[in-house]
Formats: sequence, structure tokens, C-alpha cells
Amino acid sequence: MSGSGKPENSGQNLAVAGAAGLSLEHALTEELQASTEELQAANDELLRRNEALVRLNSDIRNLLESAAIPMLFLDSDLRIRNFTPDIAALFNLIEADKGRSIADITHRLLSFDPIGIATAVMQTGEVMAHEVGMQGAGTVFLMRARPYRTAEGATDGVVLTFVDVSEAKLARDQINHAGKLIALGEMATGMAHELNQPLNAIKLGIANITARLRRGDMPADDILPRLVRIEHNVTRANKVISHMRDFGRRVEEAPACFDAAEAVRDACTLAQQELTSAEVTVEIIEAGARPPVRGHQSLLEQVMLNLLLNARDAILSRREVEPGLPGRVQVTLEGSTAGLVLRLRDNGQGVPPELAGRIFEAFFTTKEIGKGTGLGLSISARIIEEMGGRISLEAVAEGSCFRIDLPAAEVPA
Ligand SMILES: Nc1ncnc2c1ncn2[C@@H]1O[C@H](COP(=O)(O)OP(=O)(O)OP(=O)(O)O)[C@@H](O)[C@H]1O
Ligand SMILES: [Mg+2]
Repeated sequence: MSGSGKPENSGQNLAVAGAAGLSLEHALTEELQASTEELQAANDELLRRNEALVRLNSDIRNLLESAAIPMLFLDSDLRIRNFTPDIAALFNLIEADKGRSIADITHRLLSFDPIGIATAVMQTGEVMAHEVGMQGAGTVFLMRARPYRTAEGATDGVVLTFVDVSEAKLARDQINHAGKLIALGEMATGMAHELNQPLNAIKLGIANITARLRRGDMPADDILPRLVRIEHNVTRANKVISHMRDFGRRVEEAPACFDAAEAVRDACTLAQQELTSAEVTVEIIEAGARPPVRGHQSLLEQVMLNLLLNARDAILSRREVEPGLPGRVQVTLEGSTAGLVLRLRDNGQGVPPELAGRIFEAFFTTKEIGKGTGLGLSISARIIEEMGGRISLEAVAEGSCFRIDLPAAEVPA
């Protein structure tokens, strides 16, 4: 204790204590200063990072805005998390719509099941693409749904992008239509013959009735069956004309369910004259259940027609080296609940293996100039793809075999 009898030391002690206090204060001040500097540096660093983040954020926003892609970002409950200005314009979205369900805002889109698609993407993690139309606007979008992945790789939402493909769709429809007109043109001679037959029958029938009426030996009982025959021939000619008109018409309606066998039979009827005059016989074999397919019947008919005319050409080419070869085409339809497999097999010259990979390319043809455009198979492949199916060339020992796989249409219960 300082006051316990060693007064000469207490001054010293005080001095020591004072000096110690001073050096402690000094040390503390230094420490504080160092900490302040450190804090300042950390603060500066934070500010710098914050600025960088703000810049990055605004870059991302500007990028999304400048890319002008309608993009919709959904959370894992398929509610709107964010969107780009382009999508806002498309669906009349405002900030307050964030948090709403996707189903509430996409009613203007046709043939679009947002919940089904987004749920499938969330579950499978796969990218899905669909063409969807915009009600009243005539616009067609290619909608892609991609999983949104976190840095850890988990799927935490879905990103939908919409690309306007109206012009491409229009061009595609025009090519399809041109393809049809080419096929029709190729069959014009056959069609003329097909029409000429009933017209000749009508002409003969009328001439016969007129001559006999003039001679006065036409009992009323005889007139009736002749008129019935004439009517029958008028119906036949009518059928040919209406069929050509249906076939040549642009496809504007929405895809529908139909029986693929009908398209096969109608295509065979249309090509009948061409095939008969080339001495090619066609046999249609149907096996198993036949589920309806979805698309446009006249387009599948166009595909079958392309295949039938190709088969005829292949048979005619083989006949050049094997005169007298009997021409045969066999069309088989095998159905199951999942879908339909359609095969068209011919005994023509076949496709050389080195060309097999190229025949579905647009403008690829081995036919002489002016005869083939090389569009038949490429248009056919696209039509089949649009029906959700696939066309391929199967390896066979003789001739060639084209196989078309079509999924069964989902018929609403
Ligand atoms: N059944 C077949 N047998 C042998 N070769 C075929 C057969 N079908 C198609 N090919 C080959 O594939 C090519 C492309 O066929 P595609 O139908 O696309 O065009 P194209 O028949 O030549 O012309 P287009 O159909 O426009 O008149 C043909 O030129 C031919 O070489
Ligand atoms: Mg062809």
C-alpha cells in the first residue's frame, strides 16, 4: 500500500505508474489508430465492391433491356420473380404482378400450357421449346423454357424466353404450299385424265339419250338408269376437283386429330393415275389399333404423295436397267397406344448408302434438271417433325423403305 511506511518510494511508484499509464494510453491510441485505419480500408474496399456490384447489376439490367428479348423468370412455385421490359409490353405486366402465378398472365397465348411446361422443366431439368400463338395478333412465338440453376447447381425456377418467329413461320408455310403446288403440277396430267373419264362417260350417256329420244325409241324406264349413271359420273368428277382444291388449299386451321390411314388412302387415290400409268401397284396393309394423330391431314397426305412419287421414280429408274420389272409399293400402318409406325416400301433402285445421309437435305436431288427440285423429302421431314414425329430411311435388302413414326394424339377426355 502506498501509505504504509515507505513514503520515499511512493513518489517513485507514482512516477512509474504515471509513465506506465502514459505508455498504455499511447499503446491504446496507436492500437485505435491502427484499427481505424483498418476499418477505413475495409470500408473503402466495401464501397469499391458495392460500386462494382451496382455497376454489374446495372450492366445486367441494361444487357437484358438492350437484348430486347421477352424474358420471364419464375420461382420454383412458378410465380413471377422478374421480367424484362419486352415481356412487360407483351403481357401488359407491371411491377405489382411480381409474385403472381404464371397462369394468370399468359391467357393471351394459344396452345400454351405454362404450368405443365414449367412443371416438367422443374422436374426434368431439361430445356423445352414450343411454338405458341398470340391471340388476335397473328404472332407466333418460339417459347423456350429453361431451368434456372443456382451456383450450387440446384434448379430454383424456370426462365421463359419468347422469340417472335412469325416471319419464319410464314416463310415455312409458303414453302409447304409451294411444295404442294409442285406435287399438284406433277400430277396435273394424271388429274386431267381422271377428270376426262367421267366427263367422257357423261358425254356419251347424254349423246345416247338424245339420239334415242330423237328417234323416238327411248322409253321412260330406260332414261332413269342412264341418268343415274350420269349423276354418278358427275359426282366422281366433283370428288376429283374438290380433292384437288382441298389439297392445294393453304393450311390455316389449327392442328386437329385425324386418322392417318385416311391420309394414306387419299394420297394413293390422288397418285393413282401416275402409278397406274407407270405400272406400279400399291398395297396398303393396316395392323393393330389405329390411334388418331395430330396435325393437318392434307399435309400428311402431301408427305405420302411425295413418298409415292419418289417410289415411282425409283422403280422407273431401276426399269431402265431391268426392263419388265414389276413395280410394287407397299404401305404398312402399324398402330399401338403410343402411336403409329407408317412404312412405305418400294422395289425401286434404292438409295446408295453414301447418299442416305443427304436425301433429307433441301434441294438435294439425283434427278435430272427440271425433273426434281429436291424439296420433297425436306418438306416432308419438317411436316412430320411438326406433328411431333420422325421420318427416316430404313435399311432393306431391295429397294428402299421410308419409315414415319407419329405419336398418338392426346384426345381430350
Ligand atoms: N424411294 C426412293 N428410292 C430411291 N431414292 C430415293 C427415293 N426417295 C428419294 N430418293 C432420293 O432422294 C432424293 C431426294 O428426294 P426428294 O423427294 O427430296 O427430291 P426429288 O424427288 O429429287 O425432287 P422433288 O421431290 O422435289 O420432285 C431423290 O433425288 C433420290 O435420289
Ligand atoms: Mg421427291
